Amino acid sequence: MTCDDHALHEGIARYYERRLRDNGPTPQGVDWNGAESQQLRFAQLVRIIQADHGTESDGPVTLNDLGCGYGALLTFLVEQGLDIDYEGTDLCEPMVQAARACHVGVANARFRIGGACSRLADYSVASGLFNVRQDVPVPLWEKFIHDTLDDLDRSSRRGFAFNCLTSYSDAEKMRPHLHYCAPEEIFRHCKNRFSRNVALLHDYGLYEFTILVRKQVG
Ligand SMILES: C[S@@+](CC[C@H](N)C(=O)[O-])C[C@H]1O[C@@H](n2cnc3c(N)ncnc32)[C@H](O)[C@@H]1O
Repeated sequence: MTCDDHALHEGIARYYERRLRDNGPTPQGVDWNGAESQQLRFAQLVRIIQADHGTESDGPVTLNDLGCGYGALLTFLVEQGLDIDYEGTDLCEPMVQAARACHVGVANARFRIGGACSRLADYSVASGLFNVRQDVPVPLWEKFIHDTLDDLDRSSRRGFAFNCLTSYSDAEKMRPHLHYCAPEEIFRHCKNRFSRNVALLHDYGLYEFTILVRKQVG
């Protein structure tokens, strides 16, 4: 990791530490407007998990949740009744402590501090990682996005999913500390670099889009 990467991760960790301190382990504590939109995002991301997974005969689906925050996705998955072996990773230490405290006793689940996934899983997801750029220069932030996508690719056997704020947001709603991606550019990047099978979901009513990258399993 370069000095730039280290400083960038530090800046992210400090930002979310403040959010958590002010709002607790709630959607607002990870900078979302509320639980409804947070769940709607999760519903898009988990579409990466193929319908043929999560049944008793298959055994648990292994899932990496990069930038897990306080682990709201794990709660969502448990409520869906999916058989999951879950690992949440976040670079903000107090966030990981909050996630552990919120999920005491949940089987097949663990949380760790880090800026990248630690294992090869069936799937990886990342929700909300690329939105708050603060004052990081755009080229550096774009490198962060690309490096993170490479990590998701390396860490996923069957596929991965993530979301970004969209450059098609209404101009009066856009904020200078946030980062908006052109969906067609991210789609092209994923097609060229990761897989022929890429879905772009831009139809769920939020100022963002979700990308699903499905990999060929030999
Ligand atoms: C907007 S919050 C979303 C939290 C959670 N995914 C959710 O949707 O409830 C983004 C989280 O990602 C973490 N994060 C950002 N970049 C990361 C990275 N490269 N590695 C690990 N965590 C990261 C932040 O610390 C923060 O907790």
